[in-house]
Amino acid sequence: MRTAIYPGSFDPFTNGHLDVVQRATRLFDRVIVAVAKSESKHPLFTSEERLTLVHEAIRGMPNVEADTFDGLLVEYVQRQSAQAVLRGLRAISDFEFEFQMALMNRKLNENFETIFMMPKDTYTFLSSRIVKEIARLGGDVSPFVPPHVRTALAAQLATEKT
Ligand code: PNS
Repeated sequence: MRTAIYPGSFDPFTNGHLDVVQRATRLFDRVIVAVAKSESKHPLFTSEERLTLVHEAIRGMPNVEADTFDGLLVEYVQRQSAQAVLRGLRAISDFEFEFQMALMNRKLNENFETIFMMPKDTYTFLSSRIVKEIARLGGDVSPFVPPHVRTALAAQLATEKT
């Protein structure tokens, strides 16, 4: 059983994230989308809300699960007996931080590999941060996120305004 952990803040989950999950299911028996609490990043959605959005997005994908985690990623990977951590790599600008994180994780635990996956080229410009900004400014985010995420974004941003 080959298990991969796909960690991230997923604030919120986008079509780019879904594309990486779909690609990963061809390589692994079990893929766990692991929603980090990431409280220091002051996320728009709580980790439970982000988890619900991921659950809805992966519905019907038999070998994909979703979970939340707090604390060190390496410890979560160990608890799940996973062989790999997946990260999407969109552009050179992602590389420096991702490289540092992968090598630091390897220093902390040598028993798994970090695997970088490139999402479909349509999504190389996509990020959760940009999606939130577009939604905040009243733009249409429907090409970038699943429909239920778009609805959740609109609802959440409406409460922000009140
Ligand atoms: O989607 P993000 O915010 O880029 O994801 C970053 C994430 C959550 C993967 C990273 O911050 C992480 O692994 N956090 C858990 C805490 C940890 O292990 N930190 C040391 C990383 S070297």
